[in-house]
Amino acid sequence: MREQVITWLQNNVSPHRLEHILGVEKMCIKLAHCHQINPEKAAQAGLMHDLAKFFPPSKLLAMAQAEKVDIDPVCAANPHLLHADVSAIVAKEHFGIKDEEVLTAIRNHTLGSPQMSDLSCIVFVADALEPNRGDNPELADMRRVSWQNLYKSVQQTCDYSLKYLLNSHRPIHPRAILTRNWALHQSQQSVEPQPDLIKPLEYNNH
Ligand SMILES: [Fe+2]
Ligand SMILES: [Fe+2]
Repeated sequence: MREQVITWLQNNVSPHRLEHILGVEKMCIKLAHCHQINPEKAAQAGLMHDLAKFFPPSKLLAMAQAEKVDIDPVCAANPHLLHADVSAIVAKEHFGIKDEEVLTAIRNHTLGSPQMSDLSCIVFVADALEPNRGDNPELADMRRVSWQNLYKSVQQTCDYSLKYLLNSHRPIHPRAILTRNWALHQSQQSVEPQPDLIKPLEYNNH
């Protein structure tokens, strides 16, 4: 199956994009082991997340319409955003992927979604942070956080993409903001107690 997908990708995406996809697959596996998530599902979603990356806008719109994907005005004006949904369609129809969690993780890789599963979080984060995305102090710090706190990592990834979209005067999909606010809330809920806030055992015994 993996070789079959890679052969398909060699004919449908650029060599540079294929490197990115293999980087995402690898990081998904590592993050899955780190956060106790099924590594086979993570690998599958990572490998197939960008199947439709190079489909022309007309094909993305036609395939999304045929599958009754909700095409909101932002996606209608920017069909490239639909490559996530259409990649899930190709994964299902061409490669026979039936696992809804894997398909949803593929769908969520660009905009995320509030309440998304940990599997979706892993693919979302790996898409932005795999090594081929470059190297700078901010990315290095984000990569460090991705091993420690998945929700914090999703929030940082959202902030990083939103800053890029603002700086490059590109449209922002409202779901990207909803995902960011959800991840911010989740990361604040999951803050580990600081050692100096934990009462020593002796104190409790007195
Ligand atoms: Fe993508
Ligand atoms: Fe990607």
